[in-house]
Amino acid sequence: MTEVPQWQAPGRVNLIGEHLDYNGGPVLPMAINRRTTVKARQRDDDLVRVWTTHDGNQRAEFRTDVAPHDVSGWASYAAAMFWALAQDGHQIDGFDLVLDSDVPAGAGLSSSAAIECAIGLAVCDLSGITLDPIDLALLAQRAENDFIGVPSGAMDQLASMCGKAGHAVFIDFGTERPTVREVEATWAQDDLALLVIDTKAHHALADGEYAARRTECEEAAKELGIERLAKAGPDAVLRLEDETLKKRTRHVITETARTRGAIRALSTRNWTQFGAMLTASHASLRDDFDVSCPELDVAVSASLEAGALGARMTGGGFGGSAIALVARDGIAGLRERVEAQFSAHQWTRPEAWVVEPAAGASTMDV
Ligand code: GLA
Repeated sequence: MTEVPQWQAPGRVNLIGEHLDYNGGPVLPMAINRRTTVKARQRDDDLVRVWTTHDGNQRAEFRTDVAPHDVSGWASYAAAMFWALAQDGHQIDGFDLVLDSDVPAGAGLSSSAAIECAIGLAVCDLSGITLDPIDLALLAQRAENDFIGVPSGAMDQLASMCGKAGHAVFIDFGTERPTVREVEATWAQDDLALLVIDTKAHHALADGEYAARRTECEEAAKELGIERLAKAGPDAVLRLEDETLKKRTRHVITETARTRGAIRALSTRNWTQFGAMLTASHASLRDDFDVSCPELDVAVSASLEAGALGARMTGGGFGGSAIALVARDGIAGLRERVEAQFSAHQWTRPEAWVVEPAAGASTMDV
């Protein structure tokens, strides 16, 4: 029997540049060494059958002319990619797909982008469709926005498609088409580690609040007479009346500056500076953008008390994960401190592990 070909796409953490993608700013995520894999075989009809071995064995099926709302749950990310490829004018046959993943769902590590990118690449490769990784990521964003109904930016999908082992991905959304450049991530050579702390807090309001932030930013930009908020000048906050819009704008302006500073610090291996940017980013997301939550704040403050050089929430917020940059010999102490503080609050035990910058979506050897 011939082996079924297999593809993979990773989850991501965002190092810095939060809530800037849809505002036209710079972001600095990295693909992580947790991924979704998909085994794919083309069929000679228009049926798509998807199995997942993750989270118990489940199966879903739909037709290649699937429409939004036809499919729900985990399989909707697969259906969304078929829909987006069809919208883009591609003729695609049915498929049998087997998914597996070690990207935890709901942890803010872009498990959905990983599914979209793995399936998108597998289906394109087997259908003879050649798409540039940026175009495939933008198509996955369209799947997420118009099929799933989450008004996200394109950072997660671009990180999953364009990641490179040992590198962070600098994405600039300041131009009509995002530009992508890799930046070497060398903290491990200096005996540091990047920890992900999954707080296990999954807030139900997340989607509505995310959309609300996006709308507030659009309103602020409109009042300032600019197209996207990351283009706001230093006097923008003074020119706005509304307190909420002032705060959102202040986050976007300061986060844009911090992200550029963090890219310089990363390139020059200035870890103290890099860490300080991470921590300042968290304060801004907590106080000005209002997207943190008690679990994320405690994960960050406990990490800093345990000696982390910097820590912040990562991703959209309202739960999910934090990251911390810490000396390798400080990992155990940090874990202990975070766990102790969660336990004192009687929260679910968090999980912390070291993440490494990994390669983006690709075909795998079988
Ligand atoms: C989520 C979205 C991204 C981005 C982040 C916040 O992960 O999917 O597009 O907006 O939130 O930076």
